[in-house]
Amino acid sequence: MKRGFFPVCALVLSFSFLYSPGNSQVDDTWKASPEAVAKLSRSQPDFNYYEEKIPAYTLPDLLVTSSGRKVTTANEWMKVRRPEILELFRENIFGRAPETPYTKSFKIVNEDKNAMNGAATLKQVDITIESEGKSLVIHLIMFVPNRVKKPVPAFLLIDNRGPENTDPTRNLKSEFWPAEEVIARGYAISVFSNSDVDPDDFDDFRNGIHGLLDRGVRKPDAWGSLAAWAWGASRCMDYFETDKDINNKKVAVVGHSRGGKTALWAGAEDQRFSLVIGNESGAGGAALARRRFGETVAKLNSGFPHWFCANYKKFAGNEDSMPVDMHMLLALTAPRALYIDCASDDLWGDPRGCYLALYNALPVFQLFNKSSMVPRIMPPLNKQVFSGHTGFHIRDGVHNMLLQDWKCFMDFADTVWK
Ligand code: GCU
Repeated sequence: MKRGFFPVCALVLSFSFLYSPGNSQVDDTWKASPEAVAKLSRSQPDFNYYEEKIPAYTLPDLLVTSSGRKVTTANEWMKVRRPEILELFRENIFGRAPETPYTKSFKIVNEDKNAMNGAATLKQVDITIESEGKSLVIHLIMFVPNRVKKPVPAFLLIDNRGPENTDPTRNLKSEFWPAEEVIARGYAISVFSNSDVDPDDFDDFRNGIHGLLDRGVRKPDAWGSLAAWAWGASRCMDYFETDKDINNKKVAVVGHSRGGKTALWAGAEDQRFSLVIGNESGAGGAALARRRFGETVAKLNSGFPHWFCANYKKFAGNEDSMPVDMHMLLALTAPRALYIDCASDDLWGDPRGCYLALYNALPVFQLFNKSSMVPRIMPPLNKQVFSGHTGFHIRDGVHNMLLQDWKCFMDFADTVWK
């Protein structure tokens, strides 16, 4: 049986004070099941699942500029340190999108004002990208609630799981994209498939948007597929800016796993997203790389050589030499809202490493808003925590994105978007 969720938004402040070293309540925190750790360690002996075997590490300082100046104001963060960190992520991790000119056009190819038994309007929009006579189409699917004042805030899912989860006819329904539930909460919900933008396999960057926009010899900081999918999310945002039904100041970008890594990068590159949600984004997403817990940089590079830029390969087995770590990626969302969540069975994605990244990103959020915080000690299972512009939960169960998770996203959105 699933345990219930307990939102503790209002309690978050007292929470963070309750948990301190030596406090007996310190035990009320999530811990990986020892059985799961032992089992995974046997089946994957090349990867570490023991907290006590994590090597000592020092995170790069978020708030010291490359010239050694301490950042103390929101203005210095936005003007100096944020651009520096964004560049470091482009150069070393996700890669840089090319500046090749292209044109884009939007066409509503299907509209049903009476979708979901009249609860919503379905719009299917073809976003066509053209360059030098070649083109590619991103198929955006969206439902907009009917009985709600427009424009409405919207969720955009970067789908990495295939069309059976995102059926516009609603004959097939999936918790991965619970459109009816989001509509019932008064929000628009939309989705595009990452494969429309770039195939999720190593094709030497010949197809998809790489094939369309890349020119000349590929550079070590040229964008990989995650950056390409993130770019696709921005093209959907371009469309929202033209649609009077959508409040484009309140758009959340959401992704699961590889889609979660993508959502975090989309939010870093494109400040038009007001809420960024990384669900079980794991290594290369929210998880601190220096912990080397579960999936590693080496494994990401060997298993998915098309996801990141070529420079990322330098850090395989060499995490301490990375000029960034993932708390810095999360900080790039500030002052906008950020939600990170994990699942207890997904040790491959290092839930604690994701939490620590969020916790370590807080100083940047707090430059803007002192109330943005999560407790110092990772919360227990199924206890949602949020305050200001940061939130988190760890759900019990499998690596997936479920209705329980979406309810937490919407609860957070309700307070962020008021
Ligand atoms: C693999 C990969 C992860 C990724 C996941 C997914 O497990 O190693 O990094 O997050 O696939 O996208 O489901």
